[in-house]
Amino acid sequence: MDNVDTLRGRLGDYQVAQAVAVAGELRIPELLAHRPKSIDELAQATGTHPRSLSRLLRALITIGVFVPAGEGKIAASPLTASLRHVALDPAAIRALPGGLPHEREAWEHLRHSITTGQSAFRHLHDQSSWDFHAQQLDQGDVLHATMSRGTQQWARAVLTAYSFADAACVVDVGGGHGALIAAILQTYPHLRGILFDQPSVVRGALPLLTEAGVADQCAVIAGDFFAHVPAGGDFYLIKSIIHNWDDGDARQILANCRAVMQPTHRLVLVEPVLEPDNLNQRDKFFMDLHMLVIHGSRERTAEEFEILLSAAGFRLTRCIPTEMMGTVIEAVPD
Ligand SMILES: C[S@@+](CC[C@H](N)C(=O)[O-])C[C@H]1O[C@@H](n2cnc3c(N)ncnc32)[C@H](O)[C@@H]1O
Repeated sequence: MDNVDTLRGRLGDYQVAQAVAVAGELRIPELLAHRPKSIDELAQATGTHPRSLSRLLRALITIGVFVPAGEGKIAASPLTASLRHVALDPAAIRALPGGLPHEREAWEHLRHSITTGQSAFRHLHDQSSWDFHAQQLDQGDVLHATMSRGTQQWARAVLTAYSFADAACVVDVGGGHGALIAAILQTYPHLRGILFDQPSVVRGALPLLTEAGVADQCAVIAGDFFAHVPAGGDFYLIKSIIHNWDDGDARQILANCRAVMQPTHRLVLVEPVLEPDNLNQRDKFFMDLHMLVIHGSRERTAEEFEILLSAAGFRLTRCIPTEMMGTVIEAVPD
């Protein structure tokens, strides 16, 4: 394949994303969970146009999402299983590579961000993504359910990389619906947790905490981390927050944590860490662009985290890579 063909293939990635998303929305993976099915069976079950559905599935077979099973039937492949996991929860369907509708819409205005260095999302909606999703509660629920789904996948990696055995009470600052604090409390039954996020978000946390069996271990507090962060913890956890904000805002969030922490306490960030000279980090560099488009923010290097933490009254002690995109960054009050 020459360079032009390679590039052309990449430019079609949006089509792959949309095709996978639609197959998930139609619950094809679930329909194939137990046995192969014919196009007619699938079309009837999904209320779709048989020939067009056949064309969709044929295209997806070429990338291994499904496999042909003879006699015109379609079967699940190993990839289908992961898709089924997502498709079981309609709210999480948008976690598929096509992304959330409003995020995709903002990406269409990538050029605005590249030209101005500002958030395309804000350009379109005249407000931040967090304010937008706090007002559009149904959209917000989808966003935070999607985030939880991703964080559940990261949780194992975080727990493998970092021990909370010495903690008594972990405060998850901007913890969303509580996917990470729930996994931590499950692993360490002696621990207490405090989940802290915006009122519009924590209202959706109880089902997740209850299902995880940790609702009794975890207090849920609503608030604004630019105003204050709850006292009472000895480990302050911040996952996928700092990269949403520019240096001034990020420093304010960290300083508000510092204000309620004692010298023996720990700050634990989980964020992508860029290695500036390593161009072999596709996911991180695209996440960096995503941060620009949606939030007008960016990913940072370890040195940049060190400077930021120092400006907020912390000393960076360890950076522990995980098997996921996030690195655990530990810091102590300075
Ligand atoms: C990218 S999500 C990360 C959620 C969670 N830490 C995780 O990794 O699953 C960012 C979180 O920051 C929260 N957030 C944004 N602005 C906030 C504010 N002013 N006060 C408290 N939380 C806020 C959002 O509601 C959202 O849950």
